[in-house]
Amino acid sequence: MSYPLSIAPMLDRTDRHYRYMMRQITAKTLLYTEMITAAAIIFGNKERHLNYSEVELPLAIQLAGDNPKQLAEAAVIAKKWGYSEINLNVGCPSGRVQNANFGACLMAKPKLVAELVSTMKDAVNLPITVKHRIGIDELDSYDDMKVFVEALLLAKVDRLTIHARKAWLSGLSPKANRNVPPLRYNEVYKLKEEIPELMIEINGGIITLAQAKEHLQYVDAVMIGRAAYDNPFMFLEADAEFFGVQARAKTRREVIEAMCQYIDELREKDVYLSYISKHMLKMFTAIPGAKAWRRHISENSHKKGAGSEVILQAMAFIPDEILEARV
Ligand SMILES: Cc1cc2nc3c(=O)[nH]c(=O)nc-3n(C[C@H](O)[C@H](O)[C@H](O)COP(=O)(O)O)c2cc1C
Repeated sequence: MSYPLSIAPMLDRTDRHYRYMMRQITAKTLLYTEMITAAAIIFGNKERHLNYSEVELPLAIQLAGDNPKQLAEAAVIAKKWGYSEINLNVGCPSGRVQNANFGACLMAKPKLVAELVSTMKDAVNLPITVKHRIGIDELDSYDDMKVFVEALLLAKVDRLTIHARKAWLSGLSPKANRNVPPLRYNEVYKLKEEIPELMIEINGGIITLAQAKEHLQYVDAVMIGRAAYDNPFMFLEADAEFFGVQARAKTRREVIEAMCQYIDELREKDVYLSYISKHMLKMFTAIPGAKAWRRHISENSHKKGAGSEVILQAMAFIPDEILEARV
């Protein structure tokens, strides 16, 4: 199964509540978990790390690790849990992740990453994909990237997601590493041209579905991160535009009402409103009522016993024509 559009894995953002919300907006876009270490899955609380709602499928789990045996074991567990795909993080530049020998620093070790991929492929019959950077530190030429990619090709990786900017492993924070190094889309396009049999997804700095469509002229798929968090409703058009779905998109009101139902169900299981509502704050920006929406939710979600009524009250600040619009 191939997905021309996905929403990027983002720590502290793409948790199960955010993903449930995005599923009310787009049924088809591939979703990712936050990054989870293989060890956390094997030795940690599996329910807490792995549970999700069926509606979130198709859902890729993103693993971090450098130990083939552990990653294979985590992949087997993830498969049992019903995940659609296993993705390996080779893009995170944070110091903590580097110290553990995970993430972007693995770009310097193509042989090891190839071994991680092939060990997971032997262990589970699921797509095994890798998300990486265009380069790291001084290892940042097109040819360096190609050496890395060719090793993964031999390991029969099922898709590469390439964040089209390099990462500096020291001197730049993870946040700066998402903004400062320039985007180099052309090198991702070139890779697809030179290795057409490899499924390639492009990522980095893409903020509209129209831009995503443009990229699809050159690569197989597009991953959107921050914009998907800052403007979730932009995905209302995704199913029709990228997956050929004929059915009408939901209205914003329908999405919010579905979230209220979800909130009510989880309140009965003692899940606090704020865990869910924090992902809803950016549903509206730069429209009349957006500020009041955010303020009402921020000020009231933490109150004892708060539930979906807080969201319904906030919705009253948003004009009907926006709530009812068909995208
Ligand atoms: C808050 C935040 C957390 C992130 N966490 C992860 C992560 O867990 N795994 C990962 O591969 N990338 C992570 N990223 C990077 C994104 O997946 C993506 O590659 C990056 O934001 C560039 O895409 P964008 O310009 O569309 O946001 C994170 C980004 C942000 C903003």
